[in-house]
Amino acid sequence: MKRIYFNEVATRDGFQIEPEFIATDTKVALVDAISECGYAKVEVTSFTSPRAISMLRDAEEVMGRIRRVPGVEYTVLVPNLRGAERALEARADELNLVMSTSETHNLANLRMPREKSFAALADVVRMVDGRTPVNVSLSTCFGCPMEGAVAQDEVLRWAGRFAALGVRGLTICDTTGMAHPAQVGRMVAALQQVFAGLQLTLHFHNTRGMGLANVLAAVQGGIARFDGSLGGLGGCPYAPGASGNISSEDAIHMLDAMGYDTGIDIGKLLAVARRMPEIVGHEVPGQVAKAGRITDLHPAPASVAQLQKEFSA
Ligand code: COA
Ligand code: ZN
Repeated sequence: MKRIYFNEVATRDGFQIEPEFIATDTKVALVDAISECGYAKVEVTSFTSPRAISMLRDAEEVMGRIRRVPGVEYTVLVPNLRGAERALEARADELNLVMSTSETHNLANLRMPREKSFAALADVVRMVDGRTPVNVSLSTCFGCPMEGAVAQDEVLRWAGRFAALGVRGLTICDTTGMAHPAQVGRMVAALQQVFAGLQLTLHFHNTRGMGLANVLAAVQGGIARFDGSLGGLGGCPYAPGASGNISSEDAIHMLDAMGYDTGIDIGKLLAVARRMPEIVGHEVPGQVAKAGRITDLHPAPASVAQLQKEFSA
């Protein structure tokens, strides 16, 4: 049974686009519940400017109060040196640096050209100096909602520049759900060929209903690490038309049904997923939490028992 590793991003990517502030207590309780499900990693929060992402302005407090379960890595999103210093101070297990492969999205999201982001993030890698593992999330790798197509070679070029700095992993993000399975197949083949020594993670949004098809294409192409968000919440507030990540529970349920080892206790996972509508105050897109697992059967109607009696007579 092939092992698949999940990183839960509900309290970061999931919450950052929500309009109503979610209480710090609620965030801490949610991360603690997530920690009991069997995830490999949890992206707890981001150390971004509180003006840019007001929802996550309580990052220090959340990191300080969560209960850390051995074997689970607690990672945080970091856009610059100031964020990296805050993340180290908060004892994050990993720094997840972020920049976009699209110049327009980088300017919208991080307020600087890509070259300036890269220089700042290279400074972060040098400052961290191997004390904490570094991952880099590259946004808009399968298309930019403002520029359109992003060439696969452009993604490989930025990935290569970070690989040369000695980062541990790369997350290839489909920020606004523009990827399709054939494109994913080509991308993961190239990535694994060039970056065989790195942890490679795929991050999909289900904006156009292709999320799980893309997960499947990536798994069948050899990828073993995915980001997902409980309930299918999420989106970048600085990417027009952004919507939810793939629902973690839907993706994990699918892979489990297919015989992959996700390490996740699906009963516990669904119990947590079913709390999401109350936490955010609205319906969420995830489907398995509503429908139940494929093994959750319904009683047959009384008419069936009657018909069974008639036909066996
Ligand atoms: N943590 C806390 N505060 C920060 C910070 C950080 N990581 N980075 C910058 N700031 C503060 C500065 O101290 C400054 O505060 P002041 O005005 O009170 O002095 C203010 O933010 C502006 O700093 P500046 O360096 O000019 O940043 P900016 O306004 O150009 O914004 C980013 C750049 C990257 C910090 C900001 O765009 C950001 O945090 N973006 C994150 C976007 C995001 O997370 N998107 C979703 C995920 S893909
Ligand atoms: Zn995302």
